[in-house]
Amino acid sequence: MGMGAHARWIEPDWLSVRTYRLNPNPTLRIAHFTDIHHRGDEARLREVVRTVDTLKPDFAVFTGDLVEEADMFAPALEILATLRCPLYGIAGNHDYWARVDFGLARTALARTGGAWLKDTALDVGNGRVRLLALDRLPAVAKPRDGVFNLVLMHYPVWADRLPYKADLLLAGHSHGGQVRIPFYGALVKPHDVGRYELGWYDTPAGRLYVNPGIGSLKVDFRFNCRPEVTLFEI
Ligand SMILES: [Fe+2]
Repeated sequence: MGMGAHARWIEPDWLSVRTYRLNPNPTLRIAHFTDIHHRGDEARLREVVRTVDTLKPDFAVFTGDLVEEADMFAPALEILATLRCPLYGIAGNHDYWARVDFGLARTALARTGGAWLKDTALDVGNGRVRLLALDRLPAVAKPRDGVFNLVLMHYPVWADRLPYKADLLLAGHSHGGQVRIPFYGALVKPHDVGRYELGWYDTPAGRLYVNPGIGSLKVDFRFNCRPEVTLFEI
């Protein structure tokens, strides 16, 4: 099964790239990254952008928590806006807590040919993919038949609360627990993760991938859980 296939690894010094082929003859490439928690390390964020560009995706998606402080929002967006593919993104709890100016995100992501989304459905990838961007529940955005319905949400546990099924759900927020103990799992886990800590899950709403994210939560420490950019071939 495609989604269970062992990941292919490219090894930049700190960032891992996993590729999942969900279709035997894929025709579209989607890059996913999340939870950057930008605190000023521009070199790392540029490496994320460079890594995504190297994958040559048709478009990229970001599932929230770009910053923890509002004054980091514009510098982070300035770097993301240099992506060579359209970027579609949603906010995470930290972006809300930081009271960022979402107008900046709308402008920056529009520069990539993408969009900053909030409770909207948008047809992308030459109309083959319907992005369902969820900012709150109950979900406003609804799937459509005959296309690949892709849900972007920050909180993994929302997979249990959707009134429909989608082809793929992408989430972040958990940071994979950030510190993972072998045979035990996450040591630190934020709210609204539930049992969906890291990686693939079958959920009532469809298959879910929980990305471990790029940045770290509060403490600058990750163990047994590398930052990741994920590529889905559909
Ligand atoms: Fe979060």
